[in-house]
Amino acid sequence: MAIKLQAVLMNIHQAINIEDIRLLAKKKLPKVAFDFIDGGVDDEIGLRHNREAFKDYQLVPRYLRDVSQCKTAVDIFDQSFSMPIGISPMGLASLFKLGADSMMAHAAKKFNVPYVMSGSSNHSMEMVAKIAPDHVWFQLYCTNDDKINQDLVRRASDSGIKTLVLTVDVPVNSNRERNRRNGFTRPFKFTPSIIAQGLMHPYWLIDFFKSGGVPMMQNWQPYAGEGASADAVADLFGRLTPSPVSTWKTLENIRQWWPGKLLVKGILHPDDAVQAVNMGADGIVVSNHGARQLDTAPSPLQMLPSIRATLPNTFLMMDSGIRRGSDLVIAKCLGADSCLFGRPMMFGAAAAGQQGVDRSLTIIHSELNRIMAQIGCQDFAQLDASYLMALHKPR
Ligand SMILES: Cc1cc2nc3c(=O)[nH]c(=O)nc-3n(C[C@H](O)[C@H](O)[C@H](O)COP(=O)(O)O)c2cc1C
Repeated sequence: MAIKLQAVLMNIHQAINIEDIRLLAKKKLPKVAFDFIDGGVDDEIGLRHNREAFKDYQLVPRYLRDVSQCKTAVDIFDQSFSMPIGISPMGLASLFKLGADSMMAHAAKKFNVPYVMSGSSNHSMEMVAKIAPDHVWFQLYCTNDDKINQDLVRRASDSGIKTLVLTVDVPVNSNRERNRRNGFTRPFKFTPSIIAQGLMHPYWLIDFFKSGGVPMMQNWQPYAGEGASADAVADLFGRLTPSPVSTWKTLENIRQWWPGKLLVKGILHPDDAVQAVNMGADGIVVSNHGARQLDTAPSPLQMLPSIRATLPNTFLMMDSGIRRGSDLVIAKCLGADSCLFGRPMMFGAAAAGQQGVDRSLTIIHSELNRIMAQIGCQDFAQLDASYLMALHKPR
């Protein structure tokens, strides 16, 4: 419960690492909202595991190399991005900071990185794509209604979005015990405890009322009928997703409908990765959804080497548990071409809005630069297993 004293006194410009930004977000948000972002599932073993997987490796530095200019730029599908970092899709963002979807898009444009807009975002894809047409990708949650799936794909394409990310690791809702204990339910109800938390976080409460309660999921409004309330739209979303009937056939359909680049997110098994690529996926996001779905799932970092071995030439991204520049370097050495950050960006938004998202990206980029220089690597693309030492047989 206790927030460290330094976080109470700190502002966003004084935050020196992602954990500082997390503590600032904790200060700004009522517990029910902070826990929604921070939490995992069941016993939250997966959350710890995602972090601990990085501790199985050390980086072996090479010296007497000119590292005055380290190159962090990466090419993804013929587009050059300034760093091997992107923003993971995260739903319900306006609940944590009003307008957070748009802030992520502005940051993506400013830092020249991709932002994967969530399928359960609050702002509409049409609006957010206009902010950063070259940097916004769209993440799709398949519903059990194929007409809606096809329409969402069409709208993404009509919005000028060029990369679609299909998330496949939510066949059912997961057991997020913090949310259940905090009374985070749909429809959202003000319990005495939530009222008390809100009163202690008046700025958050004002934003909550400004958006008329739990913010509208604008992408889904057209399917809920004219004038549908945010609650009615959320109910519809709850009926349509998750879709336990989605199969490889769903991916086949989407590949036919979608003209642009297609990534499949949430893959952990090498055979699934191969099958997705064989069915036309242009890349894979190796992810366990930030340990928010299956507590006993392996960490994506553990699965990366075997996926890379089976798909030596496929574009691979990774997310889940990445918090430091050194984590990015380790992920690259194990086979990730680029990585996504989830919570660090949402904590940034909650802590200080646009400045907070920008600060998270600045911190990670400067950590990455420093680590690359420290290990004697001039170009992110050159990182490979020769820089790594496994402390013991990776778990
Ligand atoms: C608040 C929150 C909401 C999320 N919503 C989505 C979502 O709508 N779609 C999706 O594919 N993943 C979603 N995720 C998972 C992230 O895309 C990503 O896989 C995960 O956060 C990465 O782990 P990290 O937070 O440890 O960086 C969400 C994660 C968080 C924290």
